Amino acid sequence: MSELRTVKWVNGHVRMIDQTKLPDKLTYLTIRDYRKMAGAISDMVVRGAPAIGVAAAMGLALAANRSRARTKEQLMRELGKAAELLRESRPTAWNLFWAIDRVLQMAEKASGTTAEVKRQIVKEACDMAEEEVSASHRIGEFGAGLLTDGDGVLTHCNAGTLATVSYGTALAPIRTAIRNGKKLRVFATETRPRLQGAKLTTFELIKDRIPVTLIVDGAAGYVMRNGMVSKVIVGADRITKEFVVNKVGTYMLALAAQANNVPFYVAAPFSTFHLEGDQSSVKIEERDADEVTHIGSKRIAARGVKVFNPAFDVTPIDLVKAFITEKGVVSPETLRASTTT
Ligand code: MRU
Repeated sequence: MSELRTVKWVNGHVRMIDQTKLPDKLTYLTIRDYRKMAGAISDMVVRGAPAIGVAAAMGLALAANRSRARTKEQLMRELGKAAELLRESRPTAWNLFWAIDRVLQMAEKASGTTAEVKRQIVKEACDMAEEEVSASHRIGEFGAGLLTDGDGVLTHCNAGTLATVSYGTALAPIRTAIRNGKKLRVFATETRPRLQGAKLTTFELIKDRIPVTLIVDGAAGYVMRNGMVSKVIVGADRITKEFVVNKVGTYMLALAAQANNVPFYVAAPFSTFHLEGDQSSVKIEERDADEVTHIGSKRIAARGVKVFNPAFDVTPIDLVKAFITEKGVVSPETLRASTTT
Protein backbone atom coordinates (compact mmCIF):
# COMPACT_ATOMS: atom_id res chain seq x y z
CA MET A 1 0.00 0.00 0.00
CA SER A 2 2.83 2.37 0.84
CA GLU A 3 4.12 1.79 -2.70
CA LEU A 4 0.79 2.61 -4.42
CA ARG A 5 0.02 5.97 -5.99
CA THR A 6 -3.32 7.53 -5.06
CA VAL A 7 -3.19 9.98 -7.96
CA LYS A 8 -1.04 9.54 -11.05
CA TRP A 9 -0.61 11.23 -14.43
CA VAL A 10 -0.61 8.53 -17.10
CA ASN A 11 -0.37 9.34 -20.84
CA GLY A 12 -2.45 12.50 -20.83
CA HIS A 13 -5.00 11.49 -18.22
CA VAL A 14 -5.17 10.97 -14.47
CA ARG A 15 -5.52 7.59 -12.85
CA MET A 16 -6.73 7.62 -9.27
CA ILE A 17 -7.90 5.22 -6.61
CA ASP A 18 -11.67 5.47 -6.08
CA GLN A 19 -11.68 5.92 -2.31
CA THR A 20 -15.48 5.71 -2.09
CA LYS A 21 -15.23 1.99 -2.92
CA LEU A 22 -12.78 1.15 -0.12
CA PRO A 23 -12.32 -1.03 1.87
CA ASP A 24 -14.37 -3.45 -0.24
CA LYS A 25 -12.72 -2.89 -3.61
CA LEU A 26 -9.43 -1.33 -4.70
CA THR A 27 -10.46 0.17 -8.03
CA TYR A 28 -9.04 2.92 -10.20
CA LEU A 29 -10.80 5.68 -12.11
CA THR A 30 -9.57 7.48 -15.18
CA ILE A 31 -10.17 11.24 -15.23
CA ARG A 32 -9.77 13.04 -18.56
CA ASP A 33 -11.42 16.37 -17.87
CA TYR A 34 -10.94 19.07 -15.22
CA ARG A 35 -14.70 19.24 -14.55
CA LYS A 36 -14.66 15.53 -13.68
CA MET A 37 -11.65 16.19 -11.47
CA ALA A 38 -13.54 18.91 -9.56
CA GLY A 39 -16.42 16.44 -9.16
CA ALA A 40 -14.07 13.70 -7.92
CA ILE A 41 -12.70 16.05 -5.26
CA SER A 42 -16.19 17.23 -4.14
CA ASP A 43 -17.48 13.66 -4.01
CA MET A 44 -14.42 12.55 -2.02
CA VAL A 45 -13.37 9.99 -4.62
CA VAL A 46 -10.01 11.55 -3.80
CA ARG A 47 -9.63 13.15 -0.37
CA GLY A 48 -6.96 14.12 2.13
CA ALA A 49 -5.22 17.49 1.90
CA PRO A 50 -2.03 16.67 -0.07
CA ALA A 51 -3.93 14.31 -2.40
CA ILE A 52 -6.54 16.91 -3.31
CA GLY A 53 -3.80 19.50 -3.86
CA VAL A 54 -2.09 17.26 -6.40
CA ALA A 55 -5.45 16.24 -7.90
CA ALA A 56 -6.32 19.92 -8.46
CA ALA A 57 -2.89 20.58 -10.04
CA MET A 58 -3.49 17.62 -12.35
CA GLY A 59 -6.98 19.00 -13.07
CA LEU A 60 -5.29 22.14 -14.40
CA ALA A 61 -2.86 19.97 -16.36
CA LEU A 62 -5.89 18.23 -17.95
CA ALA A 63 -7.39 21.63 -18.81
CA ALA A 64 -4.10 22.69 -20.41
CA ASN A 65 -3.60 19.42 -22.23
CA ARG A 66 -7.06 19.49 -23.83
CA SER A 67 -6.97 23.19 -24.64
CA ARG A 68 -7.04 24.31 -28.28
CA ALA A 69 -5.88 27.81 -27.36
CA ARG A 70 -3.66 29.43 -29.97
CA THR A 71 -2.25 32.09 -27.72
CA LYS A 72 -0.87 32.17 -24.21
CA GLU A 73 -3.56 34.71 -23.20
CA GLN A 74 -6.32 32.37 -24.36
CA LEU A 75 -4.71 29.44 -22.57
CA MET A 76 -4.45 31.48 -19.35
CA ARG A 77 -8.13 32.43 -19.62
CA GLU A 78 -9.09 28.77 -19.94
CA LEU A 79 -6.86 27.83 -17.03
CA GLY A 80 -8.41 30.60 -14.95
CA LYS A 81 -11.87 29.17 -15.60
CA ALA A 82 -10.74 25.66 -14.67
CA ALA A 83 -9.04 27.02 -11.53
CA GLU A 84 -12.25 28.74 -10.47
CA LEU A 85 -14.19 25.48 -10.59
CA LEU A 86 -11.44 23.47 -8.89
CA ARG A 87 -11.19 26.04 -6.07
CA GLU A 88 -14.85 25.44 -5.30
CA SER A 89 -14.49 21.67 -5.06
CA ARG A 90 -13.70 21.71 -1.31
CA PRO A 91 -13.19 24.70 0.96
CA THR A 92 -10.89 23.80 3.85
CA ALA A 93 -7.59 22.14 2.88
CA TRP A 94 -4.95 24.78 2.16
CA ASN A 95 -3.13 22.39 -0.20
CA LEU A 96 -5.89 22.78 -2.79
CA PHE A 97 -5.50 26.56 -3.04
CA TRP A 98 -1.72 26.42 -2.73
CA ALA A 99 -1.48 23.89 -5.59
CA ILE A 100 -3.79 25.84 -7.92
CA ASP A 101 -1.89 29.08 -7.29
CA ARG A 102 1.44 27.38 -7.85
CA VAL A 103 0.41 26.01 -11.26
CA LEU A 104 -1.16 29.31 -12.34
CA GLN A 105 1.90 31.32 -11.29
CA MET A 106 4.20 28.90 -13.08
CA ALA A 107 2.07 29.09 -16.25
CA GLU A 108 1.98 32.89 -16.08
CA LYS A 109 5.78 33.01 -16.04
CA ALA A 110 6.30 30.26 -18.66
CA SER A 111 7.56 31.23 -22.07
CA GLY A 112 7.54 29.47 -25.46
CA THR A 113 4.79 28.27 -27.76
CA THR A 114 1.42 27.28 -26.28
CA ALA A 115 2.43 23.64 -26.79
CA GLU A 116 5.56 24.23 -24.73
CA VAL A 117 3.64 26.04 -21.98
CA LYS A 118 1.13 23.16 -21.82
CA ARG A 119 3.99 20.69 -21.45
CA GLN A 120 5.46 22.78 -18.63
CA ILE A 121 2.09 22.81 -16.83
CA VAL A 122 1.83 19.03 -17.02
CA LYS A 123 5.42 18.73 -15.79
CA GLU A 124 4.71 21.08 -12.88
CA ALA A 125 1.74 18.95 -11.74
CA CYS A 126 3.82 15.76 -12.04
CA ASP A 127 6.71 17.39 -10.14
CA MET A 128 4.30 18.36 -7.37
CA ALA A 129 3.20 14.74 -7.05
CA GLU A 130 6.82 13.59 -6.76
CA GLU A 131 7.59 16.34 -4.23
CA GLU A 132 4.67 15.18 -2.07
CA VAL A 133 5.97 11.59 -2.15
CA SER A 134 9.44 12.64 -1.10
CA ALA A 135 8.00 14.97 1.59
CA SER A 136 6.04 12.01 2.97
CA HIS A 137 9.18 9.88 3.18
CA ARG A 138 11.10 12.68 4.91
CA ILE A 139 8.20 13.13 7.36
CA GLY A 140 8.48 9.39 7.97
CA GLU A 141 12.19 9.65 8.77
CA PHE A 142 11.89 12.67 11.07
CA GLY A 143 8.77 11.32 12.77
CA ALA A 144 10.17 7.82 13.30
CA GLY A 145 12.87 9.38 15.48
CA LEU A 146 10.15 10.50 17.90
CA LEU A 147 8.72 7.00 18.27
CA THR A 148 10.06 4.48 20.79
CA ASP A 149 9.93 0.71 20.64
CA GLY A 150 6.71 -0.38 22.36
CA ASP A 151 4.83 2.89 21.82
CA GLY A 152 1.07 2.88 21.41
CA VAL A 153 0.29 5.42 18.67
CA LEU A 154 -3.17 6.78 18.06
CA THR A 155 -4.13 8.39 14.75
CA HIS A 156 -7.34 10.00 13.54
CA CYS A 157 -9.10 10.02 10.16
CA ASN A 158 -6.83 8.86 7.31
CA ALA A 159 -3.50 10.54 6.81
CA GLY A 160 -1.84 7.72 4.92
CA THR A 161 -1.08 6.85 1.30
CA LEU A 162 -4.70 7.51 0.38
CA ALA A 163 -4.61 11.06 1.74
CA THR A 164 -1.34 11.91 0.04
CA VAL A 165 0.18 10.68 -3.20
CA SER A 166 1.91 7.85 -1.38
CA TYR A 167 3.18 6.83 2.10
CA GLY A 168 1.24 9.42 4.10
CA THR A 169 1.81 12.10 6.72
CA ALA A 170 0.62 10.83 10.12
CA LEU A 171 1.09 7.22 8.99
CA ALA A 172 4.56 7.90 7.56
CA PRO A 173 6.43 7.95 10.93
CA ILE A 174 4.59 4.77 11.92
CA ARG A 175 5.59 3.05 8.66
CA THR A 176 9.22 4.14 8.89
CA ALA A 177 9.57 3.26 12.59
CA ILE A 178 8.21 -0.23 11.88
CA ARG A 179 10.55 -0.60 8.87
CA ASN A 180 13.36 0.35 11.26
CA GLY A 181 12.42 -2.56 13.50
CA LYS A 182 10.42 -0.78 16.21
CA LYS A 183 7.33 -2.51 17.55
CA LEU A 184 4.31 -0.24 17.78
CA ARG A 185 0.66 -0.68 18.64
CA VAL A 186 -1.45 1.49 16.35
CA PHE A 187 -4.93 2.70 17.29
CA ALA A 188 -7.19 4.12 14.57
CA THR A 189 -10.30 6.09 15.47
CA GLU A 190 -13.27 5.22 13.28
CA THR A 191 -13.78 8.95 12.45
CA ARG A 192 -17.52 9.50 12.23
CA PRO A 193 -19.32 10.44 10.13
CA ARG A 194 -17.39 9.45 6.96
CA LEU A 195 -15.43 6.71 8.74
CA GLN A 196 -12.10 7.39 7.04
CA GLY A 197 -10.32 5.73 10.00
CA ALA A 198 -12.44 2.58 9.88
CA LYS A 199 -12.57 2.33 6.10
CA LEU A 200 -9.25 3.71 4.89
CA THR A 201 -6.64 3.70 7.68
CA THR A 202 -7.38 0.12 8.72
CA PHE A 203 -7.39 -0.93 5.04
CA GLU A 204 -3.97 0.61 4.43
CA LEU A 205 -2.35 -0.70 7.57
CA ILE A 206 -3.75 -4.21 7.26
CA LYS A 207 -2.58 -4.34 3.62
CA ASP A 208 0.90 -3.44 4.86
CA ARG A 209 0.67 -5.99 7.69
CA ILE A 210 0.90 -3.29 10.34
CA PRO A 211 -1.19 -4.37 13.33
CA VAL A 212 -3.95 -1.87 13.99
CA THR A 213 -6.76 -1.68 16.51
CA LEU A 214 -9.94 0.17 15.59
CA ILE A 215 -11.71 2.17 18.31
CA VAL A 216 -14.82 4.33 18.28
CA ASP A 217 -14.04 8.05 18.48
CA GLY A 218 -15.39 8.25 22.02
CA ALA A 219 -12.89 5.63 23.28
CA ALA A 220 -9.84 7.80 22.58
CA GLY A 221 -9.75 9.42 26.04
CA TYR A 222 -10.14 6.05 27.69
CA VAL A 223 -7.21 4.44 25.85
CA MET A 224 -5.01 7.43 26.67
CA ARG A 225 -5.93 7.40 30.34
CA ASN A 226 -5.31 3.66 30.54
CA GLY A 227 -1.77 4.03 29.25
CA MET A 228 -2.49 2.14 26.01
CA VAL A 229 -1.49 5.16 23.93
CA SER A 230 1.80 7.01 24.45
CA LYS A 231 1.76 9.27 21.33
CA VAL A 232 -0.92 10.79 19.12
CA ILE A 233 -0.07 11.68 15.51
CA VAL A 234 -2.58 13.32 13.20
CA GLY A 235 -2.37 14.98 9.80
CA ALA A 236 -3.66 18.45 8.95
CA ASP A 237 -5.69 20.27 6.33
CA ARG A 238 -4.31 23.69 7.14
CA ILE A 239 -1.76 25.02 9.60
CA THR A 240 -1.34 28.65 10.57
CA LYS A 241 0.84 30.23 13.24
CA GLU A 242 -1.99 29.89 15.73
CA PHE A 243 -3.99 26.78 14.94
CA VAL A 244 -4.30 23.49 13.11
CA VAL A 245 -7.37 22.66 11.06
CA ASN A 246 -7.97 18.94 10.75
CA LYS A 247 -10.74 16.34 10.69
CA VAL A 248 -13.48 17.03 13.22
CA GLY A 249 -12.58 15.36 16.51
CA THR A 250 -8.92 16.41 16.38
CA TYR A 251 -9.42 19.17 18.96
CA MET A 252 -10.97 16.74 21.45
CA LEU A 253 -8.07 14.34 20.91
CA ALA A 254 -5.57 17.15 21.57
CA LEU A 255 -7.38 18.07 24.80
CA ALA A 256 -7.49 14.45 25.94
CA ALA A 257 -3.79 14.10 25.09
CA GLN A 258 -2.93 17.18 27.14
CA ALA A 259 -4.98 15.96 30.10
CA ASN A 260 -3.13 12.64 30.02
CA ASN A 261 0.39 13.93 29.29
CA VAL A 262 0.42 12.19 25.92
CA PRO A 263 2.49 14.09 23.29
CA PHE A 264 0.28 15.27 20.44
CA TYR A 265 2.07 15.55 17.07
CA VAL A 266 0.87 16.98 13.78
CA ALA A 267 2.55 15.58 10.64
CA ALA A 268 2.22 17.66 7.47
CA PRO A 269 4.19 18.85 4.45
CA PHE A 270 4.76 22.57 3.91
CA SER A 271 2.05 22.55 1.23
CA THR A 272 -0.40 22.45 4.19
CA PHE A 273 1.07 25.50 5.96
CA HIS A 274 -0.57 28.87 5.46
CA LEU A 275 1.37 30.92 7.95
CA GLU A 276 -0.27 34.20 6.98
CA GLY A 277 -3.73 32.73 7.56
CA ASP A 278 -6.04 33.71 10.39
CA GLN A 279 -9.36 32.38 11.58
CA SER A 280 -11.32 34.58 9.18
CA SER A 281 -9.47 33.09 6.17
CA VAL A 282 -10.60 29.53 6.95
CA LYS A 283 -13.87 28.08 5.83
CA ILE A 284 -14.82 24.98 7.78
CA GLU A 285 -16.70 22.68 5.43
CA GLU A 286 -20.19 21.75 6.55
CA ARG A 287 -21.47 18.57 5.00
CA ASP A 288 -24.80 16.88 4.44
CA ALA A 289 -27.06 15.98 7.38
CA ASP A 290 -27.42 12.47 5.91
CA GLU A 291 -23.84 11.68 6.88
CA VAL A 292 -24.88 12.00 10.53
CA THR A 293 -28.44 10.66 10.45
CA HIS A 294 -27.40 7.59 8.45
CA ILE A 295 -24.69 4.97 8.50
CA GLY A 296 -24.33 3.93 4.89
CA SER A 297 -27.90 3.84 3.63
CA LYS A 298 -29.41 2.98 7.02
CA ARG A 299 -31.10 5.75 9.00
CA ILE A 300 -30.02 5.75 12.66
CA ALA A 301 -31.50 9.05 13.87
CA ALA A 302 -35.09 10.09 14.42
CA ARG A 303 -36.67 11.74 11.39
CA GLY A 304 -36.85 15.50 11.65
CA VAL A 305 -33.80 15.94 13.92
CA LYS A 306 -31.63 19.01 13.31
CA VAL A 307 -28.04 18.24 12.38
CA PHE A 308 -24.79 20.23 12.49
CA ASN A 309 -22.04 18.47 10.54
CA PRO A 310 -18.72 20.35 10.43
CA ALA A 311 -16.10 18.23 8.64
CA PHE A 312 -13.14 19.84 10.39
CA ASP A 313 -12.24 21.55 13.65
CA VAL A 314 -9.61 23.94 14.92
CA THR A 315 -6.88 23.06 17.46
CA PRO A 316 -4.73 25.82 19.03
CA ILE A 317 -1.04 25.13 18.39
CA ASP A 318 -0.28 25.30 22.12
CA LEU A 319 -1.77 21.81 22.35
CA VAL A 320 0.73 20.52 19.76
CA LYS A 321 4.01 19.07 21.04
CA ALA A 322 5.65 19.44 17.61
CA PHE A 323 5.00 19.54 13.87
CA ILE A 324 6.65 16.79 11.84
CA THR A 325 7.50 18.26 8.43
CA GLU A 326 9.72 17.31 5.50
CA LYS A 327 12.24 19.89 6.74
CA GLY A 328 12.39 18.55 10.29
CA VAL A 329 10.54 18.61 13.59
CA VAL A 330 9.31 22.12 14.37
CA SER A 331 8.06 23.34 17.75
CA PRO A 332 4.94 25.54 17.99
CA GLU A 333 7.19 28.35 19.31
CA THR A 334 9.41 28.17 16.21
CA LEU A 335 6.36 28.09 13.96
CA ARG A 336 4.91 31.15 15.67
CA ALA A 337 8.20 33.02 15.29
CA SER A 338 8.75 32.07 11.64
CA THR A 339 8.26 34.57 8.84
CA THR A 340 8.02 32.38 5.74
CA THR A 341 7.26 28.81 4.74
O1 MRU B 1 -12.47 15.00 4.69
P1 MRU B 1 -11.15 14.38 4.37
O2 MRU B 1 -11.18 12.90 4.36
O3 MRU B 1 -10.53 14.97 3.12
O4 MRU B 1 -10.24 14.84 5.58
C1 MRU B 1 -8.91 14.40 5.65
C2 MRU B 1 -8.23 14.81 6.89
O5 MRU B 1 -8.78 15.51 7.73
C3 MRU B 1 -6.81 14.42 7.04
O6 MRU B 1 -6.48 14.26 8.38
C4 MRU B 1 -5.94 15.55 6.47
O7 MRU B 1 -6.35 15.90 5.19
C5 MRU B 1 -4.52 15.20 6.47
S1 MRU B 1 -4.16 14.13 5.15
C6 MRU B 1 -2.54 13.76 5.08
